[in-house]
Amino acid sequence: MTVIRLRFLLAAAGLAVSASLPAAEPRPVFTPPSAASLPDTEFGKAVREGEQIFLHTPQLAGKFVGNDLNCASCHLDAGRRPDSAPMWAAYVLYPAYRAKNGHVNTLAERLQGCFRFSMNGKAPPADDPTLTALQTYMFWLASKAPTGIVLEGQGYRKLPPPARKADYLRGGEVYAQYCAVCHGAEGQGQKNGKHWVFPALWGPDSFNWGAGMHQIGNAAGFIKANMPLGQAGMLSDQEAWDVAYFMNAHERPQDPRYTESVAATRAKYHDSDDSLYGIEVNGHLLGSDAPAPGGKLNAAAARTGG
Ligand code: HEC
Ligand code: HEC
Repeated sequence: MTVIRLRFLLAAAGLAVSASLPAAEPRPVFTPPSAASLPDTEFGKAVREGEQIFLHTPQLAGKFVGNDLNCASCHLDAGRRPDSAPMWAAYVLYPAYRAKNGHVNTLAERLQGCFRFSMNGKAPPADDPTLTALQTYMFWLASKAPTGIVLEGQGYRKLPPPARKADYLRGGEVYAQYCAVCHGAEGQGQKNGKHWVFPALWGPDSFNWGAGMHQIGNAAGFIKANMPLGQAGMLSDQEAWDVAYFMNAHERPQDPRYTESVAATRAKYHDSDDSLYGIEVNGHLLGSDAPAPGGKLNAAAARTGG
């Protein structure tokens, strides 16, 4: 962004753009096919099945889901919305190397991670029909997109570093003013009977400490572009950073990769300013009082003794 602006300023001032500047890579704009264009075939049926799993994940893929989120809770408009890590933009980037596990991941493996961490559940087998349906849906959304290229709107926005260090108290004020009405004063979300209307942002029903959303940068980028729902873009970058910090300075289910101790787990998986896991905030060591990972999968196992 800054590079593009700089080039523009230089060009506007009639100056040659220095060769030492990194080239601004153009990102192709892509629009996924409309739902109406879905063919009425066996293939179309599988696409629809994947879309339904994406929208109603605990109901349709319950044996792999430990919380009450849907894929679409964080990938809005059924995974179509730009700057909400849309599925059409993700599809064309896999297989890809991921620093998170240090090897090239197939798309199936990437999706397994979503279930284990974001859904606080467990990874479906790579050839499970759930993953096949999700991949079929993604493939269709990406129809006619070029592969191996970062499309405009891919991933979550990367905000520039905050002018002032992200702050818990300021974040709490943003939360009370703009978020609590839907997500609840304690981040617990809201149900209408048994049906979740607004997802939990922390606590036992949320994503776990291994999920990408627990990283402050990911959360700030998601929030800035997508929240408050229906009024996206109203928060300043600073407010987005502060409220992302506040949200991620609360306890949530344990990182399923936990080993030995909170300190050892932090050293191995969270050794960055982007994660508050293993850091003391307000006198509480985050991660030290985390509910067991797996959420209601564990509760179900405990009930059946299995
Ligand atoms: C709690 C929020 C959340 C939920 C729920 C969630 N995701 Fe994600 N997802 C993220 C975040 C954050 C990232 C970026 C993570 C990163 O790069 O570390 C991501 C990344 C992805 C990517 C890679 C995107 C790219 O451009 O490379 C795919 C694919 C994906 N998610 C699919 C899913 C699917 C399928 C589900 C449901 C089974 C799901 N996600 C549930 C937050 C979520
Ligand atoms: C008008 C109600 C509303 C408001 C206000 C709102 N959200 Fe949300 N939020 C939602 C809904 C609904 C979803 C799930 C998206 C979907 O299902 O389409 C969501 C999803 C999220 C998610 C990803 C899912 C999860 O549970 O982790 C985060 C993070 C989030 N909101 C943070 C915020 C923050 C921070 C604010 C305040 C700046 C905010 N929201 C304000 C309704 C709201």
